[in-house]
Amino acid sequence: MLSQQDNEILTRVGPGTPMGEVLRRYWTPALLSSELPGPDCDPVRVRLLGENLVAFRDTNGRIGLIQENCPHRGASLYFGRNEECGLRCPYHGWKFDADGACVDMPSEPPSSSFKDRVRARAYPVHESGGIAWTYMGPAETITPFRDFGTESLPEKNHLATKLQSYCNWIQTMEGNVDTAHISWLHSWDGAADIEDDGSDKPGYPSNKMTWKFWMHDRAPQLEIEETWYGFRYAGLRETPNGHTNVRITEYVFPYSTIIAAVPYNTRHLMVVPIDDNNCWRYNFEATVPSNPQGHGGAPLFSFGPFETPFTRRVGGITPRNYLAEADYNIDREVQRTTTFSGVKDFVSQDLMVTESMGPIYDRSQERLGTIDKAIIRMRNQLIRSAKSLEENSDAPLLALSGPDADFRKIRGADKILEEGEDWRYLGTDDDPAVQEAEEALRASEERSPQPAAGD
Ligand code: FES
Ligand SMILES: [Fe+2]
Repeated sequence: MLSQQDNEILTRVGPGTPMGEVLRRYWTPALLSSELPGPDCDPVRVRLLGENLVAFRDTNGRIGLIQENCPHRGASLYFGRNEECGLRCPYHGWKFDADGACVDMPSEPPSSSFKDRVRARAYPVHESGGIAWTYMGPAETITPFRDFGTESLPEKNHLATKLQSYCNWIQTMEGNVDTAHISWLHSWDGAADIEDDGSDKPGYPSNKMTWKFWMHDRAPQLEIEETWYGFRYAGLRETPNGHTNVRITEYVFPYSTIIAAVPYNTRHLMVVPIDDNNCWRYNFEATVPSNPQGHGGAPLFSFGPFETPFTRRVGGITPRNYLAEADYNIDREVQRTTTFSGVKDFVSQDLMVTESMGPIYDRSQERLGTIDKAIIRMRNQLIRSAKSLEENSDAPLLALSGPDADFRKIRGADKILEEGEDWRYLGTDDDPAVQEAEEALRASEERSPQPAAGD
């Protein structure tokens, strides 16, 4: 349960709000690179952290991200002409470059120097991994771009997607750090009958068998370890053969998670607030997949009776075919006989529960249990940061830097533990599964400079 005051701090992201100021200290996905396919292509509206912006790719291929309303009298620059290294307002022809400078003001006398004093609010853009990222905080506190592994990712491995959700970003984040719900929301009756393929023993289970584990132990125990970037937590479940299956999820402050997968995973789910009531669910590969089972080949949830909407093999904006107005196409007969949710599409099962809370859930009404430990930790880190930054604009923030800060080394993991094995090294550089995969990747890179892994 949260006080209404803390709920406000946690959920509001507009300019000047405590959480909005925290989020503005991090480079944030603004749009997919593929939304601006080439120089001088059509501009795109971008709503981000409650601000209306317009993005355009100029003649040199550079992306500009500037205020949507023209600084003159407010016409939308979305309707502007993208030409000769700038976006020209359709109303009186004022033209702005990617830095927001007014480079032409043909409606004023040629002798006028007024244009030199007019600027559009503009945010810097950095393209990486098929995403155009931006920094919306104060220029004097600009933070380094966080390389989750996308900087060296070959273009053919840019598999970024995004999906819009019509609820506050925290509701989506809470679903991403809630390993317990997979045993319920995403379950289906047949999972209990999956035949033991011999991988229910210490080591790496098949993906198929992990479904069976989720159904077998539907009240996982949670253990949390705080880190320089946020925390990682383990969901521990007993398997049918009496072993312990661990799923390790990473929380990378403020809005990213890396979900568990066998043997480990670097695919990010990043939740980007559009405004207080809407968010984008970004999904992107952070490294070249080196293991076809865990994080490169088949989509994570390729087994079971569900459709997966991840279009990550091609990238782009995932369409919303399952909407609240149609009750997410819930099939009550299927719900009675086959699946727990009755919703066919895997991610839409999540959307159904998170969006049905309403745009911003009032957390003073909730009753939290032991399965909500990770959610509580995430909220605490967020609220604490928002309050301390409000008090002191130089307050240190999580997950920006640190003595061992290397964002490429943050990995989710999934394994059946040996007797007495501690889960904490899994997915780290000390994990032999990681070492082996990285070794294999290095070898394949040496064979061909553009690795073909992942196809
Ligand atoms: S409103 Fe844009 S040039 Fe006048
Ligand atoms: Fe889910």
